[in-house]
Amino acid sequence: MLISEEDIRKRVIELADKISADYKDKKPILISVLKGSIVFLSDLIRRLKIKSCIDFVAISSYGGDTESSGVVRQLLDLRESPVGQDLLIIEDIVDTGMTLDYLRNNLLTRHPKSLKICVFLDKKESRKIKVPLDYIGFEIPNEFVVGYGLDHKEIYRDLPYIGVLDVKKIK
Ligand code: IMP
Ligand code: MG
Repeated sequence: MLISEEDIRKRVIELADKISADYKDKKPILISVLKGSIVFLSDLIRRLKIKSCIDFVAISSYGGDTESSGVVRQLLDLRESPVGQDLLIIEDIVDTGMTLDYLRNNLLTRHPKSLKICVFLDKKESRKIKVPLDYIGFEIPNEFVVGYGLDHKEIYRDLPYIGVLDVKKIK
């Protein structure tokens, strides 16, 4: 176990308070990157003290293993128009940065009023492309982690805590 359920709970409240203060009197669209961020999103929205909308995109950069393929594909786009809106991307984890860089550039072409990024986990050491992160839950070492929405080959999303996958055991 890397991050306990209790530590997650406390940190989500802190993030929600900060976001609520920063977006006071605004109604941001929280753009959740499927599938990994849904658990974080659902905890976060219940702690926000402001009005917000949710929308979803699906982006894939992983071929199912523990290393990024380097190829980013958008699988699902927003339902609502982002034009003139305050957008807050909600992502589970940033690793190489390719997924968020792709999504950020894509959304910026659609003239939002503002665009910020909130990530639950930041694997700072493995960054290949710099992406501006506005809210970070936890910085973690360069290990493959699962739980709290994050999977390995679709398994372990249901764990209530963040654990490090023992790569030797599953190969
Ligand atoms: P990036 O494009 O390399 O930054 O990778 C971001 C995406 O890869 C995330 O949205 C996750 O879906 C996935 N990912 C990266 N690291 C991990 C991990 O440790 N566990 C589970 N998924 C991960
Ligand atoms: Mg993801």
